[in-house]
Amino acid sequence: MHRNVLTASVAAGILTTVFLLASRVGLAQATPAPQDVPDRGPFKPVAELEMLMEAQESHLHGMEDALKTPGEKAFKVVRFHAQVLAELANVNRFHRDKADYVSWATQLRDTALELAGKAAQGSDADTGAMLGLVEKLKSTCTACHDVYD
Ligand code: HEC
Repeated sequence: MHRNVLTASVAAGILTTVFLLASRVGLAQATPAPQDVPDRGPFKPVAELEMLMEAQESHLHGMEDALKTPGEKAFKVVRFHAQVLAELANVNRFHRDKADYVSWATQLRDTALELAGKAAQGSDADTGAMLGLVEKLKSTCTACHDVYD
């Protein structure tokens, strides 16, 4: 009797395992198989770093100019420059294989995104907070240039 109970619980355990495995297979079939994702190869920047830097500078100046006349229209311009600057910084993360370099580029990206988020608040956007973030961007430019430029 004792033995039968044990056998029954072992059998139940096996059944549960089979059921769980079967449902996992079902799940795997529901999501796209990895081979459906196009092979893009590893990410690699294509523009020269010098050009990327000139572009970063022009987007920085673009947002500084826009913030001289704050308002809904200006904040739209700031949002554009901040988002593109964030993407350029995102790409810059791949220009050097050094931890501090990647960290500064990441910080620039994230600060620019934060700024874009503030600018997206339209007429309610906080100009002072945005100007503060522009200063933070500039200090990140300088931190990296002090070592790598
Ligand atoms: C993570 C590192 C890093 C960050 C952050 C960074 N830069 Fe640079 N920057 C470089 C390096 C490296 C060079 C030298 C590139 C070269 O000449 O090959 C450079 C050069 C430049 C140049 C000179 C380009 C030329 O014509 O020779 C400008 C302008 C520039 N950066 C602007 C900026 C601005 C503006 C920011 C911030 C919004 C910034 N950079 C942030 C790494 C960085």
